[in-house]
Amino acid sequence: MVAEHSPSKKLFNVTLRVWRQPDAKSPGKFVDYPAKDVNPDMSFLELLDVVNDNLTRQGEEPIAFAHDCREGICGTCSCTINGKPHGPGKGIATCQTYMRSFKDGDLILVEPFRAKAFVVQKDLMTDRSAFDQIQQAGGFISVRTGAAPDANSIPVPKEDADLAMDAAQCIGCGACVAACKNASAMLFVAAKVSQFALLPQGQPERERRVLAMVAKMDELGFGNCTNQYECSAVCPKLISHDFIARLNREYIRAVVKTKFTPFSSAAGGAG
Ligand code: SF4
Ligand code: FES
Repeated sequence: MVAEHSPSKKLFNVTLRVWRQPDAKSPGKFVDYPAKDVNPDMSFLELLDVVNDNLTRQGEEPIAFAHDCREGICGTCSCTINGKPHGPGKGIATCQTYMRSFKDGDLILVEPFRAKAFVVQKDLMTDRSAFDQIQQAGGFISVRTGAAPDANSIPVPKEDADLAMDAAQCIGCGACVAACKNASAMLFVAAKVSQFALLPQGQPERERRVLAMVAKMDELGFGNCTNQYECSAVCPKLISHDFIARLNREYIRAVVKTKFTPFSSAAGGAG
């Protein structure tokens, strides 16, 4: 195999305009940080690391931002870059955004994810434990699934398995909420509910799950879906808004099946 020679990289300069907020109770403001000699192959988070190194050397408070895997897996990184959750790329998380997406002289606006149910803790860090509460309300199964060979002994139609795997891609990042003018969590809940509803292992709690997760979503202050589809447009895992229609069907099915009085205004949007 012939080794590839990468062309010499042209370094460039940008200015980061970053939201700084000392804690959840204090007001925040934007502060400019010029960044010189930026390598286009740096990731956006690596640039934040460099800026933070410089701030630390100068005795200033580094910019607080959340990250973990830096591979688009964990859903921890959560910046809004130039007004778009996770930045300019499609189907990628903030940590997978590279500086080659920007050009020399750019002013780059960096903010935390904002929503009523997501409280800014510090700078770019947002408390998204509301998602954990929704998951705890019903995003689990209680059947004994055994080991891998046991799972393989339960036949699942390929179409259902593929759809369940699509839904299971959700990394719980919260970009869908941050992008939605209603701060709706419908795409997140739709992915979690659909993942289990499509598989045999998810059937025992199928009705209880969707009713409980939608109720918790409402209780925590997330809005309704009004078919804007901003959620799926920014989702780093390209979760389709078709799952919201599936969530609505699951909800109605559960209401009918349990003769339950609807208590949620959230059954709306996407069909
Ligand atoms: S649906 Fe997409 S945007 Fe929303 S939490 Fe899951 S991965 Fe993130
Ligand atoms: S740091 Fe894990 S998805 Fe970005």
